[in-house]
Amino acid sequence: MIKQQHMKLVKQEEIAQDIFELVLEGSLVDEMNEPGQFVNIKVAEGDTPLLRRPISICQIDREKKQFTMLYRAEGKGTTILSKRRVGENVDILGPLGNGFPVREAQVGDTALLVGGGIGVPPLYELSKRLVASGVKVIHVLGFQTKDVVFYEEKFNELGDTYIATVDGTHGTKGFVTTVIEEQGISFDVLYSCGPTPMLRALERNYGHKKVYISLEERMACGIGACFACVCHKQDDPNGHTYKKVCVDGPVFRAGEVVL
Ligand code: FAD
Ligand code: FES
Repeated sequence: MIKQQHMKLVKQEEIAQDIFELVLEGSLVDEMNEPGQFVNIKVAEGDTPLLRRPISICQIDREKKQFTMLYRAEGKGTTILSKRRVGENVDILGPLGNGFPVREAQVGDTALLVGGGIGVPPLYELSKRLVASGVKVIHVLGFQTKDVVFYEEKFNELGDTYIATVDGTHGTKGFVTTVIEEQGISFDVLYSCGPTPMLRALERNYGHKKVYISLEERMACGIGACFACVCHKQDDPNGHTYKKVCVDGPVFRAGEVVL
């Protein structure tokens, strides 16, 4: 169930250049079920003209009633968020959207998880769930450069992890698709989150297989009320039927919506 709650900030740390790990605590965590869901976060307390920002759930700790988000502080809202301190309360609306379908991968299957930049975080909880249900996971994570790489060891603990950087300062030089081809990685199900050109390339290369992609469309309300996030369906590209990324997604099967 979607709820709004002021959650306690228990950790805020810069883990790579402009990439922050934020941990919040509160009973809202009980509602978080699917990896790939997100929350809409009010970055400042009190009356603020700023819209909430959508950020993915990266990790859920039910026992401690805590969840983790990773975000890049670049624009106005996320920079304000990065100044919030331990002990403060943060206004959260969530969990929102439909997450990754974990059960599409069966015991003994291999799942390939492909993340690009700030699309990597939701794949962490997904990977943990897949491993717990007996699925072999392989991660291919793409970043611009070495300074913005994060969670490499954490993903490594769950399964084989390959890094690609555009400038070649860490891992393979190039894109995630370069790694998949060079390593000859085969898989039963592919799950991905990241920039649209990356998702498009994966859909083009592997769309005939089971591929699930998470879109990071611009949003406002996050609850289906404002039409800020609509996208067209591939079977009706110019028509009047559409999907709202915030409530119908953010995860779709490849081929469902126009990228
Ligand atoms: P500003 O430029 O101040 O933002 C202005 C407005 O544009 C805001 O309403 C903002 O929400 C919107 N906006 C700008 N860029 C984006 C974008 N790329 N996507 C969506 N809205 C945008 N980022 C992370 O760092 N970590 C995550 O885990 C993460 N998960 C996301 C999950 C979903 C479902 C979506 C839709 C987006 C996610 N994003 C994530 C992207 C994040 O929401 C934007 O980077 C952030 O809203 C930008 O806010 P800003 O204050 O830095 O920028
Ligand atoms: Fe308002 Fe999706 S963000 S309808």
